[in-house]
Amino acid sequence: MISIRHEYTPCTAEPVLPDDLGFGRIFTDAMFVQDYAPQSGWRDARIVPYAALALDPAAQAFHSGQMVFDGTKAYRRPDGRINLFRVERNAERFNRSAQRMGMPPVPVADHVAAIEALVRAQARWVPARSNAALYVRPVMIGAEATLQVRAAHTYLHYVILSPVGSLYGEAFRPVSVHVSHEHVRAVRGGTGEAKTPGNYAGSLYATEQARTLGHQQVLWLDAVERRYVDEVGAMNIAFVYQGRHIRTPTLSGSILPGITRESLLQLAPDLGFTVEETRLDVDEVFDAIRTGTITEAFGMGTGALISPVGRLAYREQEAVINGFEPGPVARALFDALTAIQYGRRPDPYGWTRTLDAA
Ligand SMILES: Cc1ncc(COP(=O)(O)O)c(C=O)c1O
Repeated sequence: MISIRHEYTPCTAEPVLPDDLGFGRIFTDAMFVQDYAPQSGWRDARIVPYAALALDPAAQAFHSGQMVFDGTKAYRRPDGRINLFRVERNAERFNRSAQRMGMPPVPVADHVAAIEALVRAQARWVPARSNAALYVRPVMIGAEATLQVRAAHTYLHYVILSPVGSLYGEAFRPVSVHVSHEHVRAVRGGTGEAKTPGNYAGSLYATEQARTLGHQQVLWLDAVERRYVDEVGAMNIAFVYQGRHIRTPTLSGSILPGITRESLLQLAPDLGFTVEETRLDVDEVFDAIRTGTITEAFGMGTGALISPVGRLAYREQEAVINGFEPGPVARALFDALTAIQYGRRPDPYGWTRTLDAA
């Protein structure tokens, strides 16, 4: 079991947070760090004051991009305690990402213990505001100084925390989405299933282009046929047919297996909706929006939880979904999921881990 050294003295003053937390702009004043070497494995686990990292400019991460990360959230409950949401699933995905990038795993129990210890030490940073939370960002990077293109021998694993509001400013504001034909995010057999920064770096140019056209996000199609829907921005996507049947793309190998997606697929039938994982042809989706068969569309991810899609721009045409308003299915799912995450209702699925430290 991991033994964590505390080299951080909590300050007694409450952190002063701005009214508008934004997303990922503010960081707490401590972080978790540990190092890996082949002879010792993971060692020197510590919670230290938040500070810049000292890395060799030849570190493998900078040249081969050997890095992975993940993201979950800690939520303030009405009783003042804190809920961590499905943090084991994040730790497992972190290891799958690490394996894909030739990196060593962090034992899941140790990773969860590290996150718990850090969140406990930083409990006063978990905001008690509606739709706000403490975002947890674990990262692993290849730290060895080498210009050789091979897996590094040494690694750094760290966890930082950020008090966040909702991802797109006002919670639940629909976004306008541009279908990208020119660029793809990931290809089957590539790294799309891994949470590795190169996937995101490769998405930035197309996203900026979509923004210049007045949209907030890109809808990514499969890289081979440029025909099947993969994801929206850095979220999984779902479409609601005739107000009750939810379809989402099957995890094809190029899609990140989202934990929000997985949770909503489990939750939705309990709210009376039907769910289906299938291949979704973008032409058929666009037609179904225009004829009104698709009544809602939304992205699913830890940042926004559920982000309604209000408009789809496809080739030279545009279609508005549900009058650019959040729909009732997205709202029902959002309410049910957040009630569990924030501990407003009992958690029948065992998704939350409650920390006693307030
Ligand atoms: C590319 C991509 N797809 C989907 C998701 C949603 O995953 P999750 O629900 O686990 O946050 C994320 C966010 O982590 C992502 O980066």
